Amino acid sequence: MTERLLSLKDEVKTELNKCTAIHEVNALKAHFLGKKSPLQELLAKMKEADVEEKKTLGKAINEFKQFVEAEISLKLKEITSLEIQKRLESERIDITLPGKSFAFGHQHPLTKIIEEIEDIFIGMGYEIAEGPEIETDHNNFELLNLPQGHPAREMHDSFYIDPTNLLRTHTSPVQARVMQTSGGKPIKIICPGKVYRRDNDDATHSHQFMQIEGLVIDKNITLADLKGTLALLMRKMFGNELEIRFRPSFFPFTEPSVEVDVTCFKCGGEGCPLCKGTGWIEVLGAGMVHPNVLKMSGYDPETNQGFAFGLGIERIAMLRYGIDDIRYFYLNDPRFLKQF
Ligand code: DAH
Repeated sequence: MTERLLSLKDEVKTELNKCTAIHEVNALKAHFLGKKSPLQELLAKMKEADVEEKKTLGKAINEFKQFVEAEISLKLKEITSLEIQKRLESERIDITLPGKSFAFGHQHPLTKIIEEIEDIFIGMGYEIAEGPEIETDHNNFELLNLPQGHPAREMHDSFYIDPTNLLRTHTSPVQARVMQTSGGKPIKIICPGKVYRRDNDDATHSHQFMQIEGLVIDKNITLADLKGTLALLMRKMFGNELEIRFRPSFFPFTEPSVEVDVTCFKCGGEGCPLCKGTGWIEVLGAGMVHPNVLKMSGYDPETNQGFAFGLGIERIAMLRYGIDDIRYFYLNDPRFLKQF
């Protein structure tokens, strides 16, 4: 019996020596101590033995069990520490390698222009208003004195979503929205945002672009207030070098209407393809709010006057930075963007 146990011990040692993985050690444990192990035979024999024999046999078996468990836990420790060693080797970090550099983003030129213009108007007591890009035909046209069939609607080739909703063709519908919720009180707002037109994209046209709308309503507002405000805006944006001019124009929602031009930045006023030979570039439309527009949105034109304007942000950015193709703004080319 003791010989058998001794030879089993040897077997345990040789087998354990061959193990290189934890699961192999666990299998060995089952093999030597489990239900089908040689130990079971010895235990069976114990039933037949007398009291004295049982004592020695029991002791020997217990001792064998302890031996196996001790050997196994030693082996497990050895394997685990080997595995840790291996992982440390393979995951070694070379702290002398150069780090990864991060590319920093910065503001888009259009955002810069918007924030600059917002600051100028906030400085004059204006508030920033917002409106949705999907607008009703009613707000986008009707309330701006452009009823169904009005020829000026065609200037705004529109993207209709259904017969009553479209992608707004300008930021002017925000005028109607603000007037309707202001309860007849004075208004001083600007509204920057995206607008959409069914134009073919080229150097000066884009099917989506950005505008800033402005609206002031109060008592005793005159065209002189409008001129003063816009002249100040132009001077702040372009300094005193570029010339500006006010030119009579037509918009259905203003009467009288004006357009503001600045000297062409490309040719300096000589005339070139960009300014279509005129030497001027149009930057905004404006005028005194039409009495019909006031009336339709709940203001009495007898006691209230107002002025409104709408400017193209891309135009301003192009003038400001000397960019001659509007499409650069939308390409997200870092070589372009990082110049601002
Ligand atoms: N909505 C006009 C456009 O998109 C711009 C404009 C002109 C806005 C005159 C105004 C305005 O508020 O008074 O071309």
